[in-house]
Amino acid sequence: MSIDRRHASVILLGWLILALCGCEGVRVESCYENGAVASVSPIASEIGTQVLAEGGNAVDAAVAVGFTLAVVYPQAGNLGGGGFAVVRDGQSGRIRALDFREKAPAAASENMYLDSSGNVIEDLSTLGALSSGVPGSVAGLHELWRAHGTMPWETLVVRAARIADTGFLINGPLAEDLEYRDEYLRLFETTAEIFVPQGRQLELGDRLVQKDLARTIYSIAAEGPDVFYTGAVANLIDSCMVKHGGLVSRTDLEAYAPVWRVPIRFHFDSLDIYSMSPPSSGGIVLAQILKILEPYDFSRYNPNHPEYISLVVEASRLAFADRSIHLGDPDFYDVPSTLLDPEYLASRRQQILPGQAGSSDEIQPGHPPGRESEQTTHFSVCDAQGNMVAVTTTLNTRFGSCVVVEGAGFLLNNQMDDFSIRVGHPNTWGLIGGEANKIEPSKRMLSSMTPTLVLKNGEPFLITGSPGGSKIITTVAKSIIDFTRFRRNLNDVVSCPRFHHQWLPDTLYLEEDGFDLTVRRTLESYGYSVKERSLYGDLQMIFIDPGGLVHAASDPRNGGAPAGY
Ligand code: DON
Repeated sequence: MSIDRRHASVILLGWLILALCGCEGVRVESCYENGAVASVSPIASEIGTQVLAEGGNAVDAAVAVGFTLAVVYPQAGNLGGGGFAVVRDGQSGRIRALDFREKAPAAASENMYLDSSGNVIEDLSTLGALSSGVPGSVAGLHELWRAHGTMPWETLVVRAARIADTGFLINGPLAEDLEYRDEYLRLFETTAEIFVPQGRQLELGDRLVQKDLARTIYSIAAEGPDVFYTGAVANLIDSCMVKHGGLVSRTDLEAYAPVWRVPIRFHFDSLDIYSMSPPSSGGIVLAQILKILEPYDFSRYNPNHPEYISLVVEASRLAFADRSIHLGDPDFYDVPSTLLDPEYLASRRQQILPGQAGSSDEIQPGHPPGRESEQTTHFSVCDAQGNMVAVTTTLNTRFGSCVVVEGAGFLLNNQMDDFSIRVGHPNTWGLIGGEANKIEPSKRMLSSMTPTLVLKNGEPFLITGSPGGSKIITTVAKSIIDFTRFRRNLNDVVSCPRFHHQWLPDTLYLEEDGFDLTVRRTLESYGYSVKERSLYGDLQMIFIDPGGLVHAASDPRNGGAPAGY
């Protein structure tokens, strides 16, 4: 990794000024000449950078990063989950979206998580093999590589296998998550063997070695995704499902295929934004929020001004209300094509009264989500050829279903909970839904993941994305507004305090200790029910400046770090 000299001196000067001012905790974004990776894991960012430096393109690097995260960030990085990627091909300028979201097993049914009285059975859609959808990540990363990669598949994938084989040192965020999920990780023998060996919780600084996972990744490196979907790994998944009462069958695995989709494209100010289309709600809800806000002049506000916060909250309320009814897997449900219609959005905008809380009370309220941390993960990659990749991938909640496939060493997702398991019943993220997102065999569950590429004057400009369940979308919207309207530097954007509203529950969440009491009091006087909560997203952002220099920044909340060269 070599930071170019001009910028290295700017960065050093910045550090010096900050040190002299005593601005502890403020970091200057990293800057590179050729390409960069921003991810939650310094190890994964370095692996991606190695690939770039060896002549691989951004997609090659993304593939290596994706597999590495499955090893070093098992809370969310995965082989047993799914995700989405938005990719720009530097040569043609074409931008496409890859959907490698999990699918419901063919044997799934609408009421599978309800008891005979129609009540939701606790934990069934979030814990254990029955909560798993058909995994999409291995097929997805392979399809990305097949369409855009340049280096041999094996050389990209094998790096992750080596780390699983020799182990890595557990960092703070992983240690915390292992502690938080300790009880669940002990429930399944194969999971406990890895994460709670001999009954001892792994701690900060312990070495985590994952031999079975290494073997699985070596075999994927050598044989490609077939080993996972039809070969030896598929057999292990099948046995695991039989043993633990899951529904994913050999036929489901054989039938799984990622899908290229047309991304959601819209203009915001002078920017050309591309984000994920259904079955993610991310792109449409992001577009609704930004388009509703576009005509407002923010120049008289600072980013924590209560009236500005209120405008964003009202735009979010309107967009999330549409999400609950209109969005689902487009292969099963006709998502209305008019959700971004300017006249429709103008009529929605009219419902906003600045400085006055709207109301969500005509609909059954949801439950506020419980304590959470960031269990999805996003990474951004770019190279010197104009290739841009934004990938968000997840097992859903931390460590997914908590079931490790015996002999294969990887965790299975609990993504089925993202379906509307009963009309009006809030999922883990407090989101409610209905018909559009009901469980159907082989359907993809609605997501909030929002991997996003931004172009300016036709040139690469910004790559952004985050975990956070429903907060993903408001976090990504805020990252674009903060960077472009408030002209915050990238490092401020990833670290500044956040707020969130998702229509139901009708609660405005402020990041704990992020806002002055006067801001909170003013928002309450507008009529908002305000609550504070911790842990707000984990942005991984890249900005390509007009001179072609690449600036990358990782959210300080979760231990991430960018790398580049
Ligand atoms: O696809 C979704 O929207 C959720 N399964 C994402 C979960 C998530 O972001 C977890 N991280 N905080």
